[in-house]
Amino acid sequence: MRRKLAAGNWKMNGIEAGLGEVSTLADAHPSKTVDILLCPPATLLDRMSMQTKDTSVATGGQDCHPAPNGAHTGDISAEMIADAGGTHVILGHSERRTNHAEQDELVHDKTKAAWEAGLIAIVCVGETEAERRAARTLDVIATQMSDSIPDGATDDTLVIAYEPVWAIGTGMVPTLEQIGEVHDFMRTRITERFGEAVGQSVRLLYGGSVKPSNASEIFDVSNVDGALVGGASLKAADFSGIVAALEANV
Ligand code: PGA
Repeated sequence: MRRKLAAGNWKMNGIEAGLGEVSTLADAHPSKTVDILLCPPATLLDRMSMQTKDTSVATGGQDCHPAPNGAHTGDISAEMIADAGGTHVILGHSERRTNHAEQDELVHDKTKAAWEAGLIAIVCVGETEAERRAARTLDVIATQMSDSIPDGATDDTLVIAYEPVWAIGTGMVPTLEQIGEVHDFMRTRITERFGEAVGQSVRLLYGGSVKPSNASEIFDVSNVDGALVGGASLKAADFSGIVAALEANV
């Protein structure tokens, strides 16, 4: 049985109301029937981790450098995320792939670095609108999965997030059939590569314009084990609605 995961990606937001919202969220979901994760900007991680200690909310980073330390101005390492109390790190988000030209090979190396530091890597994959129109979605996902995910993945170290680039922050959501097609495909690929036990246990999240109003139907899709949520994770009321939908799906 895969434990469901609701992961929030605050992106470059959260210094206004942010940390106040976190206690509201934790108070609303004390029972730990699902995993709840918030990934704030690096500057807030340490404080958020202290605030959520002994609650149902875990914390993580949004990116890490592939090296453990060194002369890399402006970067942070997986060790630093762990030191700040983080247990997870989002890697290969499409905004990193687009804004920072991150390729699969770099995501692969960052994932290994995350594992070295004891973090769970949430590796993001997803097609662009042009790729979907060209009927290349499954090819793109297959390549991103094989090239971004290192050998040796286990369900304790890897989560995969399917995030169609065209659905992120746009309000556009794929049909439930489209989400199901990709998630079933990812389940098959991960099982072929890592074997039945790992393949059936790695969690697959959907991300892209998830809201309280569409969360339930998305969580009903086969092989969707939770969500990676951007905009709707910033307000406790919204994210709480998504967590509640996930709890109802257990
Ligand atoms: P969104 O972002 O929920 O705002 O569409 C999702 C993400 O980028 O992880």
